[in-house]
Amino acid sequence: MDKKNTLTRKDFLKRAGSTALFAALGINFVTGCSSSPTDNNSSGNEGGGGNTGGGSSAITVSGQTTSIDLTHSDVSSLQNSGGWLLITKSSANILVVNIDGSTYRAFSSVCTHTGCTDSWTFSSSEFICNCHGSRFDTQGQVVRGPATSDLPEYGTSVNNDVLTITK
Ligand code: FES
Repeated sequence: MDKKNTLTRKDFLKRAGSTALFAALGINFVTGCSSSPTDNNSSGNEGGGGNTGGGSSAITVSGQTTSIDLTHSDVSSLQNSGGWLLITKSSANILVVNIDGSTYRAFSSVCTHTGCTDSWTFSSSEFICNCHGSRFDTQGQVVRGPATSDLPEYGTSVNNDVLTITK
């Protein structure tokens, strides 16, 4: 194996390791700046280096309550308008979006079409379920089928930079 192949493989493993870490954390990162519906810019938050390194976790799921430390680098995408997260940790199955810089809305990530939970993107202020293409606005309302029912919404509150989502 030549040196070029060795480096390529090393780079690959580095990237795969990051992806595995975020998958283990149950976090999918996506920035909300995508303007084209066909721009599948879901490769995520380039701040991916902001993992916890074994320290505190950005997201805590306890029963029906999910808490997100908004100051944590793992969830930095949520600090800006249009930033969003899909939270699969502990089967929380939550979509959360920063509406205007300080207002958050959270929804079930169980698509009301046939129940896909983890194939979401966010583009042009719409959540898109990539299983069959249903789209939902930032109020959880269906804007395009095949889904016919809105996404259930969860309560949100922010105190001391902690976003609490209550089912
Ligand atoms: Fe979401 Fe079909 S499960 S569109």
